[in-house]
Amino acid sequence: MGKAMTMADGMIDDMTQPLRIGLAGLGTVGVGLLRLIEGNSALLAERGGVSLAVTAVSARERGRDRGVDLSGFAWEDDMTALAARGDVDVVVEVVGGSSGAALELARATLGAGKAFVTANKALIAEHGHELAELAEANEAALLFEAAVAGGIPVVKGLREGAAANRVERLYGILNGTSNFILSEMETSGRAFADVLGEAQEKGYAEADPSFDIGGIDAAHKLAILAAIGFGTQLDFAGVKTEGIDRLRPADVAEAARLGHVIRLVAMARPSGGEEGALLQKVAPMLVPLGHPLAHVTGPTNAVVVEGDFAGRLLFQGAGAGAEPTASAVAADLVDLARGMTGPAFAVPTDRLMEARRADHGANEARFYLRFSVYDRPGVLAELTAAMRDAGVSIETMMQRGQSAEGGEVLVMMVTHHGRERCVRYALEALGGSDVLTDAPLALQLLAD
Ligand code: HSE
Repeated sequence: MGKAMTMADGMIDDMTQPLRIGLAGLGTVGVGLLRLIEGNSALLAERGGVSLAVTAVSARERGRDRGVDLSGFAWEDDMTALAARGDVDVVVEVVGGSSGAALELARATLGAGKAFVTANKALIAEHGHELAELAEANEAALLFEAAVAGGIPVVKGLREGAAANRVERLYGILNGTSNFILSEMETSGRAFADVLGEAQEKGYAEADPSFDIGGIDAAHKLAILAAIGFGTQLDFAGVKTEGIDRLRPADVAEAARLGHVIRLVAMARPSGGEEGALLQKVAPMLVPLGHPLAHVTGPTNAVVVEGDFAGRLLFQGAGAGAEPTASAVAADLVDLARGMTGPAFAVPTDRLMEARRADHGANEARFYLRFSVYDRPGVLAELTAAMRDAGVSIETMMQRGQSAEGGEVLVMMVTHHGRERCVRYALEALGGSDVLTDAPLALQLLAD
């Protein structure tokens, strides 16, 4: 296993020498980090025991005005060269992308036995295991607090603060763009497509916003937290992911009538029935108004960790943005300066359990179902017969909208507690029905 790195290992030559940083990426977060290191330099030196000094930087365009003075730093056109520089102890990567330059830089840095600090969730979710093995083989540190939920110290909270607990459930709101859209739909009654443009203008969205609204960004972050929380190997491909793009204002309004809000929830928990299997999913869910996640609005993120001894822990704060993300990167740098680093995923990679995937069909919950149908005789009978045949018990049913001409209306149901498999079976059975004007929607109700 890779042992915890200490200053005595020679990472920092002597106590008076600063921790020397090579910074790859001078976008919002990179510039935020430069400002933080300059603005809080005395505090960082006090807390880390040595000062933090950026010595070299790299970005795509050298000439661009970023509003910060780069004259004191060496420049590298090729960011991978940062790893080999004699005046760099740690490389910070805030470029993004799960492969290409970011991955090459991570491999070069860890391969050279130097620490690698990143805000790149896609890189860690998809290549974190390989990078953690490389870090251990070279006795280097791999740190990624900023990769999950921006400024919220949830990686440390889970890895260190909750280390004594068996985690029973881990879930939260891990994508600010989706949360902004959902809370705007809630307060203004506007449609999904109208609000998406506004989220993009505000700069919360990923370069490809389908990552936000399709749940992929949240799935990256969930996979990282699940590996730490449950001691399993990363399994991003095993996260069942569903986005928010099919939600209508009518769903948001119906959820409110039912005493709920809709949130894109990322959840991981051991499967009830299958030994060692993990259920990981990202999907819009109905969250009861009494639950702490129901009050998380705008681009804020929140993570709930339920531990067997600590009980319910709630981590909440800004999930994106220059300053919060720079704060998380700098916290990792302070840990490095203090010599306080351990295995990237809390235990050495050879002790992580193989990730076994739970059967989502066996997931038990109540479900909200919405059908768009023609308003004509026999339609309700057809819907309820499909529920009966699949063994789905209906708790409540309502019809919204009016159509004298046999046009479209919405039928919503809330089911009793039951297996997801049965709900899916009922919806598939209705798939070819000519009473439907649109594919049905099924959302899980989050258990309090
Ligand atoms: N696009 C992300 C979000 C930014 O909306 O939360 C931080 O990962």
